[in-house]
Amino acid sequence: TYVIAQPCVDLKDRACVDECPVDCIYEGKRMLYIHPDECVDCGACEPVCPVEAIYYEDDVPGEWKEYYDANVHFFDELGSPGGAAKMGVIEQDAAMVAALPPQEH
Ligand code: F3S
Ligand code: F3S
Repeated sequence: TYVIAQPCVDLKDRACVDECPVDCIYEGKRMLYIHPDECVDCGACEPVCPVEAIYYEDDVPGEWKEYYDANVHFFDELGSPGGAAKMGVIEQDAAMVAALPPQEH
């Protein structure tokens, strides 16, 4: 799966959403999250993020490794909705993201 990391927090550019062929990039309150089971690893989202927030799971920089878990756990209660567009903004975040101080960009 691909993973969205810290640069997305409090920015949410959303360029990635338009590129995803399976609509598996979901919008939380402070960042977007890629569904680990719905993502087909096409790589289309990665180059379009203006702040380089998106990485293949094996390539997430060390300082942001915990974002793998953040992307996975965001869906603990949501399960596999099968499409982000119909969900709109989901008014929650992974716990570690919710706990971050406001991010400057
Ligand atoms: Fe976030 Fe970059 Fe997408 S800022 S919403 S991961 S284009
Ligand atoms: Fe979607 Fe492909 Fe990225 S399936 S989340 S655009 S790797």
